[in-house]
Amino acid sequence: MHTTAYQNHIATLCARMDRALERSGHDHALIAAGVQKMQFLDDMPYPFAVNPHFKAWAPLTQHPDCWIAYTPGAMPVLVYMQPDDYWHLPPAPPSGYWTHSLDVRVVRAAEDATKHFPTSGRIAILGEADAVLPGCVPNNPQPLLDYLHYHRAFKTPYEIAMLKVAQREAVAGHRAAEACFRDGGSELDIHHAYLVASTQTDRDLPYGNIVGLNEHGATLHYQHQQAKAPGHSHSLLIDAGAAHAGYAADITRTHHDGDERFGALVAGVDREQQALAAQVRPGMDYRELHLQAHRRLAGVLREVGVVRMDAGAMVETGVSSVFFPHGLGHQLGLQVHDIGGFMASDAGGTLPKPEGHPYLRMTRTLEAGMVVTIEPGLYFIDLLLAQLKAGPHAQAVDWAVVEHLRGFGGVRIEDDVHCTDAAPENLTREAFAAAH
Ligand code: GLY
Ligand code: MN
Repeated sequence: MHTTAYQNHIATLCARMDRALERSGHDHALIAAGVQKMQFLDDMPYPFAVNPHFKAWAPLTQHPDCWIAYTPGAMPVLVYMQPDDYWHLPPAPPSGYWTHSLDVRVVRAAEDATKHFPTSGRIAILGEADAVLPGCVPNNPQPLLDYLHYHRAFKTPYEIAMLKVAQREAVAGHRAAEACFRDGGSELDIHHAYLVASTQTDRDLPYGNIVGLNEHGATLHYQHQQAKAPGHSHSLLIDAGAAHAGYAADITRTHHDGDERFGALVAGVDREQQALAAQVRPGMDYRELHLQAHRRLAGVLREVGVVRMDAGAMVETGVSSVFFPHGLGHQLGLQVHDIGGFMASDAGGTLPKPEGHPYLRMTRTLEAGMVVTIEPGLYFIDLLLAQLKAGPHAQAVDWAVVEHLRGFGGVRIEDDVHCTDAAPENLTREAFAAAH
């Protein structure tokens, strides 16, 4: 089904790698999928996490000990490890759209991969330190990585297609999660409903689901799922994704019980979120969009009666950061926080974050082909509220309103948006609209 798009994707990766090898002065590239790691003093493995450089070339995410061997001008070789193993199900024989664009060589033992590696010339070897074979130690040349990481931002049509499938899976999960919340389910029930509907296990997720009822929504990366439902579920903040062929979706929604003030807060964040997503256009400096998000969210805080301060002053004094203490978003693709968000050019260099905004993960100017998240949020975080209360701006806050909203935790609304030469393509809203 994806054969042509994938062929073109591989052609793009080959062209990028040709230039990256030139930059670093190497003749060939080897890319390790990685090795299965064991827990300390145990025979239990950690979940396998594939090298993102490897899965860019082949949609193989649970295939340790595989390699890509690339020489400019030749078809990329995929060394496909299919061990004789009756304890675990070995990878299936290679089949599918991806086998036509790669020279697939099956091996039965990890060391046999080297038989398919180049035997002369300077070799760039990409992988973790433990992906070592005799005569083959990862060297991860920085100029080569810089080139690839910078260009990773520009998704091929094949990658956009894979991201869209991931969106559909995640959206199915989000719809089931909302229904479970309305039925009074616990965090664990909601998590399970999400997994079933998105057809994933915990191991398939691109990041651990964040499922926070009530005040748990105030913990940005809340990592537990309580089995017992609270007496009353006022709100649900769910940040949950899906992975397809190695590409991630990253979606957050906030639901509530109809409370008027919290409802106004959610509606305000949603309105501003859509206004921000509409500006994912070539030439927009993502740092500017982040600062604009602060001004917009400050306006929501004022409108809902949380802070009595001019929006600009709220941003200047850092008051908006008490309620919005994270970045507007990040690049998305092979990794949920796709690498290269700070790169000044494909030769390296760093674009600084705006002063006072240490958690922003993207400082580049948007260009067609990029996919970024737009995820503004407003939270009631005790740790930060205590600092605000002790500081010079305490009198600008309506603490009774804060006390009411604390029980709802917070709001975050996150979409994944494709920057194009025309209007932005909101992958998440499109997937929700298609699911209705
Ligand atoms: N989905 C979690 C995050 O973007 O940090
Ligand atoms: Mn995100």
